[in-house]
Amino acid sequence: MSLLRPILLISLLPVSAGFAADFKRDIQPILEKNCYECHSVKTGKKKAGFVFDDLETFKLDIADNDVAQIRPGKPAESHFLEIMINDGKNHMPPKDQLSSSDIKKITEWISEGASFDSGAPKMTAAPAKKVLPPIMSWTNAEGKTIKAGFVRLDGENVVLKMPLNAAEVAYPLAKLSEASQKLARDCAAP
Ligand code: HEC
Repeated sequence: MSLLRPILLISLLPVSAGFAADFKRDIQPILEKNCYECHSVKTGKKKAGFVFDDLETFKLDIADNDVAQIRPGKPAESHFLEIMINDGKNHMPPKDQLSSSDIKKITEWISEGASFDSGAPKMTAAPAKKVLPPIMSWTNAEGKTIKAGFVRLDGENVVLKMPLNAAEVAYPLAKLSEASQKLARDCAAP
């Protein structure tokens, strides 16, 4: 998917044919306009502890688990989006309403995996040619270890191949131990 998308974008899709959200181009300006006032390093306001202009910090809110604000590929389960749509207690921004086109862009961006990478092709997107061991040990943040092969990095996830049934499973990088995150990046490096 991550390898195919850049090619699809440039070769098949004229700009008007379909929308593929690009974080820097489409999403960041919306957050800058509507959220940074109260959630950014720039203004020094970090309401409820959230900042959206420091991407290293923002990234920590994006993961496929119950506590993450944004679940890649699952807009309906993303609290971040829900509070912009619903009139609940913590509606964001507190006294304003994002336009439906902004909401649509954010929904698309989350559906597409909530990546900060731009859709432009990158040199690093070339398939890694090096030979990796078919099975490696991966440890998650809780210290649990599994054995699996490395397939690729996909946005904020590492795709692992399970040795028993060869199933490919995407696992959030942020939930791996630091050593395993580094292993995944080393495996993905050309
Ligand atoms: C005028 C200030 C202000 C603006 C603008 C603002 N927020 Fe907030 N935000 C707050 C405050 C205050 C809280 C804490 C609310 C609470 O905990 O009761 C908060 C809390 C949050 C939370 C945690 C909510 C929860 O349910 O735990 C998220 C996520 C959030 N904001 C996202 C955003 C996003 C996204 C935007 C822009 C679309 C935004 N905010 C704009 C002031 C703001």
